[in-house]
Amino acid sequence: MAAALRTFGRREILKGALAAPLYALLSGTVAKGSQESGEKGMRDLPLRYFGSAARAEWLGENRKLREAVLKDCSCVTPEIGMNWAAIQPTRDTLEFGSLDALAVFARKHGLAMHGHTLIWDQTIPAWAQADMSKGDADWSLVGRYLAAAVSRYPSVPQWNVVNEPIDTEHPDGLKRSAVYDAFGPEYIGMALDEVRRHAPKAKLIINEYSLEYANPVDKARRNRLVRLLEGLLSEGRPLDGLGMQAHLDLGKGPMDQKAISAFLREVVGMGLDIYVTELDVKERDFRPSRAARDRLVADEARRFLDVALAEPAVKGVVTWGMSDDGSWLVPDEADLRASGVAPGARTLNRGLPYDRDMRPKPMYSAIRDALAEVRAA
Ligand code: XIL
Repeated sequence: MAAALRTFGRREILKGALAAPLYALLSGTVAKGSQESGEKGMRDLPLRYFGSAARAEWLGENRKLREAVLKDCSCVTPEIGMNWAAIQPTRDTLEFGSLDALAVFARKHGLAMHGHTLIWDQTIPAWAQADMSKGDADWSLVGRYLAAAVSRYPSVPQWNVVNEPIDTEHPDGLKRSAVYDAFGPEYIGMALDEVRRHAPKAKLIINEYSLEYANPVDKARRNRLVRLLEGLLSEGRPLDGLGMQAHLDLGKGPMDQKAISAFLREVVGMGLDIYVTELDVKERDFRPSRAARDRLVADEARRFLDVALAEPAVKGVVTWGMSDDGSWLVPDEADLRASGVAPGARTLNRGLPYDRDMRPKPMYSAIRDALAEVRAA
């Protein structure tokens, strides 16, 4: 599955890069979900799109998940495979097997693939971090990776170029990382320029989290993000959009709908598109009945979507997975203890549209209704 990187020749990259069994499974045997189930899902909504994060492996293994994706989604986002450390685990290795399988699945079924994510402090490979920390870092190390990843998927319509750049704990409000330390705050604009060279038509996005709630941290993050976007645009950087991750959290107090709306207006005022890129809801209180918990989750999602989708520049909504079973969110130990849950009991966070058996939950209806009720601008 690995291919030599030194020359970056397309043939070398392609050679042996496909995960053969996955490729066969995903490209050959899957019928369209909506035809199988006869139900109408969220696919092909007229005004906004719905999509989900996914891994090719999950889609290959889980028929119900695959059917739900095909019934509901117009796009998929790689849940983990499109990170630098996954793509280029060593300097001379490129691994695209799982990503290629997802891309083939998407193409075969007419889904878009949302590019996520190119530069993220949490997924810079160790070898690259070591190299960049030597001083006198050479941008071509980053540039070569960006070129290889982006040019391999020319039909990706939008790329999350930089993920989570904000950290208001620092005086300049920007997250520290190997790339920041090596190139300074300029790295964000440099990455946008680099990606534009390889994706002349794609929408280039900054993707960020913790922007939704009425607390000083979220407020400071919104403000810093607005300044970052303004700064990039005033430098003439090729920036087209903002990704709002929307990892909602029932422990963060009231959502600030007014502030979200004002924030979105500011971003739209700069001429940018907006994408909801990773919607899910973290639970905190596990004492209520399942039905009550599911209602709280659905209501929180709806509160967010009502304000987000009122803004015509919000192009669509992606959830960070379809089923609670594959969610990256796991209940905090302290929350479980405070809820009186017996230690060791397996408790899933129920913050996605489908439960672990792929039964749709109230969050599913909340998203579907919010999307269906959108009016043309
Ligand atoms: C998460 C994945 O879902 C996990 O599987 C992985 O272990 C860590 O990353 N913000 C992002 C996503 O931009 O890429 C993260 O995804 C969740 C937070």
